[in-house]
Amino acid sequence: MSEFRLIQISDTHLARRLTRLTDNFDRVREYIDAKRPDLVINTGDLAFDGPTSRDDLEFARELHASLPVACRYLPGNHDIGDNPTRVGPVPPHPASEADLERFLAVIGEDRWRFEAAGWCFIGLNTLIMNTGLASEAEQFDWLASELAKANGRPVALFLHKPLYLNAPDDPELAASAIRYVPMPARSRLIEMFARVDLRLVASGHVHQIRDFTYGHVRHVWAPSAGFIISDKRQELIGVKAVGLVEYRFQPDGFEIRFVRAPGQIDVDLDSLFSAKS
Ligand SMILES: [Fe+2]
Ligand SMILES: [Fe+2]
Repeated sequence: MSEFRLIQISDTHLARRLTRLTDNFDRVREYIDAKRPDLVINTGDLAFDGPTSRDDLEFARELHASLPVACRYLPGNHDIGDNPTRVGPVPPHPASEADLERFLAVIGEDRWRFEAAGWCFIGLNTLIMNTGLASEAEQFDWLASELAKANGRPVALFLHKPLYLNAPDDPELAASAIRYVPMPARSRLIEMFARVDLRLVASGHVHQIRDFTYGHVRHVWAPSAGFIISDKRQELIGVKAVGLVEYRFQPDGFEIRFVRAPGQIDVDLDSLFSAKS
């Protein structure tokens, strides 16, 4: 295969009761049906709140099963709980092995590696990082053995949380630590990926569109497919809009395009529980 077409969706936050988010997912599915990429990747927060409602995860699985092409998954903090950080407050629901097991039982995977169009694609579970859980150590061991097989191929990394705001050594701040892969796991990842030809880090979680390059690595922040978060709740960093990301990978490079599927609406988180929903 000389070209590999991928659509990244993220932060679908599905729940049976939140019909406007289902409407946005339906518009995304129609777009995917029209474009028929080789693969769809959801980079996490599939469910509105999996840790407190298994049915949200079940509903997300049902809707993703209706996509007309193959889909791969990564968990988000709203699927399995969140990371502890060194500087921020303790998350309301820290990730646990039980949460991860539930995600694996319902969705089927939390990390993966595959090759296409001369590229090596790796997806990691960022929410177990810094937890000290056995699954965290197991994932790092697995990653080391998978990176050893890259054999000089360009590498595309998919995560729920972005690695950092602007640079690898950005200070970890109490107010924003929860937004990025926490230290020291972030440093460990950067060190491991420095030994391969990393070209792309694609993430979700922030619900803002962003595209920047640091060194040789392009960082793509995917929009949420479901809703935006107002400035009074979250600072503006990139662009606040719903949508998806289309990629075309070829052995010598890749192209990306941010797209709003026809009919996809910028639902505001604060309006989700109003009378209209
Ligand atoms: Fe999210
Ligand atoms: Fe998230």
